[in-house]
Amino acid sequence: MNAPQPLTDTAAVAAARNLPCETVTSVKHWTDRLFSFRTTRPRSLRFRSGEFVMIGLAGPDGRPILRAYSIASPSWDEELEFYSIKVQDGPLTSILQHIRPGDPLILKPKPVGTLVLDALLPGRRLWFFATGTGIAPYASLMRDPDTYERYDEVILMHTCRQEAELAYGRELVESLPDDPLCGEYAHKLRYYPTTTQETPSLPGVRTGRITDNLLSGRVFSDLGIPPINPEADRGMVCGSLDFNTDMKAILEGWGLREGANSEPAEYVVEKAFVG
Ligand code: A2P
Repeated sequence: MNAPQPLTDTAAVAAARNLPCETVTSVKHWTDRLFSFRTTRPRSLRFRSGEFVMIGLAGPDGRPILRAYSIASPSWDEELEFYSIKVQDGPLTSILQHIRPGDPLILKPKPVGTLVLDALLPGRRLWFFATGTGIAPYASLMRDPDTYERYDEVILMHTCRQEAELAYGRELVESLPDDPLCGEYAHKLRYYPTTTQETPSLPGVRTGRITDNLLSGRVFSDLGIPPINPEADRGMVCGSLDFNTDMKAILEGWGLREGANSEPAEYVVEKAFVG
């Protein structure tokens, strides 16, 4: 099958509708279901780590298809990075997975979102809970010095079906000691990756859903820390709708309240984009 036409039509479709475009600078395919890509960054774009923007391409009918994507790059990076799933019949990702360096990408430079440090009250420990591509906002937050200045300890729980799907996050965690701004804080980040549909072979990778490992208390004993409580712990949740719903119930059961930009509290939630 030929690569879909919409890739080459995006610049024209965007111009006709006055939508701003950026240029893809690199693409990396991590598995047959996951890829990341980088784009030029609009000069005017300032964002808070954890926020998302609308990005897209021209669809087969000549209309733009825009979806919310968390910015995975840190705020000081001169380019932008995104991390995406490939859904074979997904309206956007079925086309987006074919992008190459030099291709135009529609990008509205209006960042928004609740997965930001400002929506949380101060605390001792910050938890990043992610399934699948839900790790994208944490890829930015884990490279923000503010994260480590506000919390003594940051714990990243990331769960995927297969071990290969953890690679994007694992590489970021492993490279943190070399990060120009956050290297000195790398010891504060604790990484708890798990798989649910494959027995892991890499050291440090465990099994089980995040929800199960929290409810059984396994993660607390593995890390040697007390159970989550509203005095010390703050949480950020980013995954599928079902995951987010289950996590809300667990965190609220432990006394944490959902926060927002306008009213910071103990945890925040955002849905990872799919489709
Ligand atoms: P599982 O394999 O047990 O369904 P997906 O690829 O479907 O988005 O899932 C990504 C990861 O999120 C998988 O490891 C999956 O586990 C896990 N997951 C899906 N739904 C939930 C949920 N409601 N609670 C906890 N983990 C979930």
